[in-house]
Amino acid sequence: MKIFNSLFLFLVFALSNFYCNAQNNVYKTTTNIQLNNRFEKLLENPIDSVGFPRSMSVKTGEIKKVPSKDWTSGFYVGNLWQLYLLTADSKYKERAQKWIPFLEKEKFNGGTHDMGFKIYCSFGKGFEITHSEEYKNVIIKSAQTLCTRFNKKIGSIKSWDNRDKWNFPVIIDNMMNLELLFEASKLTGDDSYRKIAIQHANTTLKNHFRKDNSCYHVVGYDTITGKVKSKNTHQGFSDDSSWARGQAWAVYGFTMTYRYTKDKAYLNQAEATAQFFINHKNMPEDGIPYWDFNAPTIPNTTRDASAAAIMATALIELYTITKKDVYLKYSNKVINSLSSNTYLLNESVNAPFILDHSTGDWSKKAELDEPIVYADYYFLEAIIRKKAL
Ligand code: GLY
Repeated sequence: MKIFNSLFLFLVFALSNFYCNAQNNVYKTTTNIQLNNRFEKLLENPIDSVGFPRSMSVKTGEIKKVPSKDWTSGFYVGNLWQLYLLTADSKYKERAQKWIPFLEKEKFNGGTHDMGFKIYCSFGKGFEITHSEEYKNVIIKSAQTLCTRFNKKIGSIKSWDNRDKWNFPVIIDNMMNLELLFEASKLTGDDSYRKIAIQHANTTLKNHFRKDNSCYHVVGYDTITGKVKSKNTHQGFSDDSSWARGQAWAVYGFTMTYRYTKDKAYLNQAEATAQFFINHKNMPEDGIPYWDFNAPTIPNTTRDASAAAIMATALIELYTITKKDVYLKYSNKVINSLSSNTYLLNESVNAPFILDHSTGDWSKKAELDEPIVYADYYFLEAIIRKKAL
């Protein structure tokens, strides 16, 4: 009996060691020299009040830079904050502090729903680190501006203005802007932001999902009746296809909304859509999806590293909530794949990006198989969340 007991204890010890080593592989990626070299490249980018790095053509070497009104403008500053969190090197923090004032005017821009992407990924991360009163006020003003896009009859925040095809379009990406509203309620004690976020999430939950738990990209509403008029795509292959980044926005958005509300309906949807994504028959072995799960030319089409990175960080949060290993397993696989030579932007490329191989907008043939700033942002967030486990 004693021998069996010892054998059992030995097996438990060996298995737990094996498990810890597997987990540590992910930590090692954060100290990977190539990765660190890429981090440094973000500092080589000259400060430019109207030129936030967005993407680059690896073929021509041209870096696409955008003004603060672009939906991606907040990610570069967010990346600098996150590099500070990861490395504790104050040079990243100092650089973020130099860039961030050029984004502030967006707090008055009510012409778009992208406020969360622009302000929360920059000022939100900055506030987390510095607790600056100034950053806090920017977050609150931005939330007030975003709320002007809320339509009570529909129960949603309008995504885009002036589109011929839609009167009141709501895209799944818009779930990502709710974090700004939840935080504004926490910072002010005023529940009105939170109430709008919850109504938006409920309307999205009701109308954006299909029976198989994948989601539509765009739902168009009628402003007179408040009812759904159309269900379409804008960046996916077709109205009925599953655009990879859209699925990732949905999982991240509903997991985050669960964090603030503890409403199980959001958690259930996040889990169901995560299962659809990670178990899809067209998901490649390395965990990095093609840009659309139904792209007809798979496997001869581009991957989307950004969709994988968004899903990886979302699933670390989903793992912390549910303790289901399947989510951590997928996130670990993605972090390891993205930290490899296949996905890291080559060391010789002088550009303020970390990852290659994202797909921006296939329908416009724009940013195909390129480094894109938001892939880096969610990849860094995934590494930070993983380290915190
Ligand atoms: N929010 C726009 C995109 O995901 O491309």
